[in-house]
Amino acid sequence: MTDKELVNLALDARKNSYSPYSKYSVGAAVLCGDESIFTGCNIENASYPCGICAERTAMSKAISEGKKSFSKIAIAGSSDQICTPCGLCRQFMYEFAPDLTVLCSDDKGNFTEKKLNDFLPDGFGPESL
Ligand code: THU
Repeated sequence: MTDKELVNLALDARKNSYSPYSKYSVGAAVLCGDESIFTGCNIENASYPCGICAERTAMSKAISEGKKSFSKIAIAGSSDQICTPCGLCRQFMYEFAPDLTVLCSDDKGNFTEKKLNDFLPDGFGPESL
């Protein structure tokens, strides 16, 4: 699985986005340690804080299927701006994979690569307790 292929899966995952409020669809594709892949999209709610981001949807699908190891995630937005993970998602992902590679894409598939550790320096995780 190349980075470009993972980004393409994230772009495709936007098709099921439920985002009537922001009208900003997001897709994510997470590569697990065993090479399996889970995708997800953002799902909004009339009670705004109940919405969930694409990357948490993808990772939650994987975790609920027994996956605990993750190497890479691609996140794709729907504007010409690169879609970076929100603060809540950074913390959520840090719990399972502080060394995660994060590919952040715009709506055309142009992407950047960064480590989750760079998005969330000095993060609070299981080791902190
Ligand atoms: N969103 C994501 O799904 N992932 C991100 O990394 C950034 C934001 C969603 C949340 C909301 O449904 C919409 O994008 C606008 O904020």
